[in-house]
Amino acid sequence: MSKEMLDTLLSRRTVREYTDRKIEKEDLDKILEAGMRASNCGNMQLYSTIVTRKQENKDALCKLHFGQPMVKNADVVLTVCADVNRFHKYCEIRNAKPSYNNFLWFQVSTIDATICSQAMVTAAETLGIGACYLGTVTYMAKPIAELLNLPKHVVPVTTITLGYPATMPELTERLPLEAVVHDEQYQDYTSEDLERLYEDFEKLPQIQKYIKESKQENLAKVFTEVRYPEKDSLTFSKAYMDFAKEQDMM
Ligand SMILES: Cc1cc2nc3c(=O)[nH]c(=O)nc-3n(C[C@H](O)[C@H](O)[C@H](O)COP(=O)(O)O)c2cc1C
Repeated sequence: MSKEMLDTLLSRRTVREYTDRKIEKEDLDKILEAGMRASNCGNMQLYSTIVTRKQENKDALCKLHFGQPMVKNADVVLTVCADVNRFHKYCEIRNAKPSYNNFLWFQVSTIDATICSQAMVTAAETLGIGACYLGTVTYMAKPIAELLNLPKHVVPVTTITLGYPATMPELTERLPLEAVVHDEQYQDYTSEDLERLYEDFEKLPQIQKYIKESKQENLAKVFTEVRYPEKDSLTFSKAYMDFAKEQDMM
């Protein structure tokens, strides 16, 4: 890996505000090719990417992403899908019996789609293009799939907005490396470990501001009470699972 590539990875941040500058077709093609080059299970490429550039289609998608403005303001919106449809049909025309409509292959195709997505994001960032993932695609998978004309055996996994950065946000902090890396075997966290690992993180001015604005007593409560409350998690979990079943992916 080149030093520049490592610098890109270590200094990247999510970009949510974009200029009007268009992404050249050849740059977009390179980004999409970087996704295709990524490792994938059995080289079956169990993913598909829907490219949205027309403003009316971005506006329609934006509504389904709960109005997150980067969807309509980005030059390009990518919806990356777990896709066993193409391979299933390929097996059928070659008189081979497909059996990819089960949880294992839903998981594998989701991993394929995720790795492909991250390769595209890294390629975009290497070209100076900003990117933002949108998890709202999983909450609204069914209406988004309808809008994008996704057939059976295809489920959206993530959405990525792309555009040249209008503003460069500050680098967000992370927990210390020891919080997420385990030597040889998993060392479960004691309360003391958690106090130590989260101590500096919780003290950060950006986190303190976030807690105050959310009117909560600590960061954990911001997540459980405001950001991802149980009721929403259960509702969206059911909707996604039901849709995956409807698509014959489970
Ligand atoms: C699965 C996933 C879903 C995300 N969903 C959203 C989203 O809906 N809206 C948004 O503004 N950012 C979203 N993000 C971006 C994260 O908020 C962001 O990566 C995180 O806060 C860390 O910031 P950084 O990427 O600038 O380091 C998502 C990222 C991932 C990986």
